[in-house]
Amino acid sequence: MGIKILGTGSALPEKVVTNFDLMKTMDTSDEWIRERTGIGARHVVTGSFDTETTLGTNAARRAIEAAGLLACDIDLILVATCTADDRLPCVACKIQAALGAGQAAAFDINAACAGFLIGLSVAEGYLSSGAFANVLVVGTETVSKIIDWSDRGSAILFGDGAGACVVTRSDSAFTFALGADGEGGDALRCSHNSTVTMDGQAVYRFATRTVPKVINEVLAKAGMKASEVDKYVLHQANMRIIGSIAKGLKEPIEKFPTNIENVGNMSSASIPVLLDELVRDGKIVAGEKIVLAGFGAGLTYGACVMEY
Ligand code: UT7
Repeated sequence: MGIKILGTGSALPEKVVTNFDLMKTMDTSDEWIRERTGIGARHVVTGSFDTETTLGTNAARRAIEAAGLLACDIDLILVATCTADDRLPCVACKIQAALGAGQAAAFDINAACAGFLIGLSVAEGYLSSGAFANVLVVGTETVSKIIDWSDRGSAILFGDGAGACVVTRSDSAFTFALGADGEGGDALRCSHNSTVTMDGQAVYRFATRTVPKVINEVLAKAGMKASEVDKYVLHQANMRIIGSIAKGLKEPIEKFPTNIENVGNMSSASIPVLLDELVRDGKIVAGEKIVLAGFGAGLTYGACVMEY
């Protein structure tokens, strides 16, 4: 028994903040941000109009529609987020209510930028065991609410958004490899009532060392070679990190689609938003072998290989 993605969806807040906008409030430049990160702009929520719940609900609605299902067909809602407005109730329960999916179980997963991938692995476990038939996995973040907008070392990186997918049982297998390095957790922190602090270089080193390893691990588990992979859909943290991972895997950069230039790093929403864009643009088609990989605060990391 395996699983497959039935439908994807995403939602971004309307407001776009460019590097030139940031230059008005901090000592930075478009050139520096583009060279060091590949980011040109990011979307951010304004006022109380958009929240992680409204963005996640919109992404979820689009994924359910693309799957050809109704909200009443969803058995379980998993929401990956590290920027929930409230401690209680969890975002998954708020999205369940907004969707009118009262029959679905619902809970959140806090694993930062690896959260969506870890959510998919949880969905795979439940689907394979036969416990549920259709699982909605959402990654939704309003990182702009927890960053220190005066810290040019971190504020330039992040954006807000949500992505979702509906997964169901099928014959094709998803293979996962997950891990964590709790001892490195101080590199990226956010305490209650505080803002993000980050040792950018430590996170950079962690990502470039760990992600090629975990991808090679998942490919070995699946009995596949890197050259058999059609596309690598990675967490969008930094173009240089993605380039270094491609080098580490000895794979051409063309196999690594990105959207970081327009949306920045949206933590757990990065992978599902990119996946949705690629699916809707016809850049991922049925039968392709896709690797997803996430990494971030925790430190958490993981990869999966699947046939789309
Ligand atoms: O989902 C995971 C989330 N976190 C990450 O992905 C972070 C991974 N790390 C990174 O992406 C990079 O480390 C950063 C983009 C955050 C920083 O790039 P870097 O090449 O590691 O720069 P740096 O921190 O070594 O700073 C180099 C210089 C410093 O100036 P001095 O000391 O050389 O004079 C910084 O003060 O660049 C300066 N700097 C900036 N200058 C203009 C730092 N941020 C900026 C800025 N604009 N925004």
